Amino acid sequence: MANFCVTGGTGFIAAYLVKRLLEDGHCVRTTVRDPGDVEKVGFLWELSGAKERLKIMKADLMVEGSFDEAVQGVDGVFHTASPVLVPYDENIKATLIDPCINGTLNVLRSCSKSSSLKRVVLTSSCSSIRYRDDVQQVSPLNESHWSDPEYCKRNNLWYAYAKTIAEKEAWKLAKENGIDLVVVNPSFVVGPLLARQPTSTLLMILSVVKGQTYY
Ligand SMILES: NC(=O)c1ccc[n+]([C@@H]2O[C@H](COP(=O)([O-])OP(=O)(O)OC[C@H]3O[C@@H](n4cnc5c(N)ncnc54)[C@H](OP(=O)(O)O)[C@@H]3O)[C@@H](O)[C@H]2O)c1
Repeated sequence: MANFCVTGGTGFIAAYLVKRLLEDGHCVRTTVRDPGDVEKVGFLWELSGAKERLKIMKADLMVEGSFDEAVQGVDGVFHTASPVLVPYDENIKATLIDPCINGTLNVLRSCSKSSSLKRVVLTSSCSSIRYRDDVQQVSPLNESHWSDPEYCKRNNLWYAYAKTIAEKEAWKLAKENGIDLVVVNPSFVVGPLLARQPTSTLLMILSVVKGQTYY
């Protein structure tokens, strides 16, 4: 069976990817920021096949080369790790924009050093497609459309801004380095939690109820 790396294993989408890959009999490495945080990563060890075929590795989007070891020797990488829901304040560049953009490039640079790697699947977002002044005129939107970074800036849409730039830069780096890249652009992914702690989409729903603002 194949070997896969899923970045950000504590995340909602990543956890389902890890679960499915293990169920299909594959060997899985997943990266988290703190493998020793039992509260956060403990549920991953309880997945079927985890004890035999799962490896949890430490990696941080903001540390250059952090993903080198995790992607070395694997057949495929699912890059899902990204800040999603952070409070909108003066730290937005450090908490959201830089980890999203530089983190994606960091992971792809690690991928470009892996001789075994066949494909990278990047979880971008519909936010990198739909924010533009002419959205009414050009709809329905498809993979040729991009959000306009200037529109995002004008409207404080920093998550959309970061995801748009991150995806564009990812395509560029993949092309330059001969990486077979596939990008998916989901809208709102929510369902039963695998993790014990609520992940971003559930927190987003809660924030509506609690009257908090997130970007
Ligand atoms: N869920 C959706 O509706 C949706 C829709 C469109 C696109 N997406 C995209 O799909 C991907 C996964 O989304 P999700 O909802 O599953 O996310 P999530 O549940 O919020 O999980 C995000 C993951 O990213 C990790 N992360 C954040 N900052 C990091 C850093 N600096 N270094 C390493 N890891 C870091 C988090 O780790 P910690 O546990 O350490 O914080 C967590 O594991 C994201 O790229 C998101 O933009 C999601």
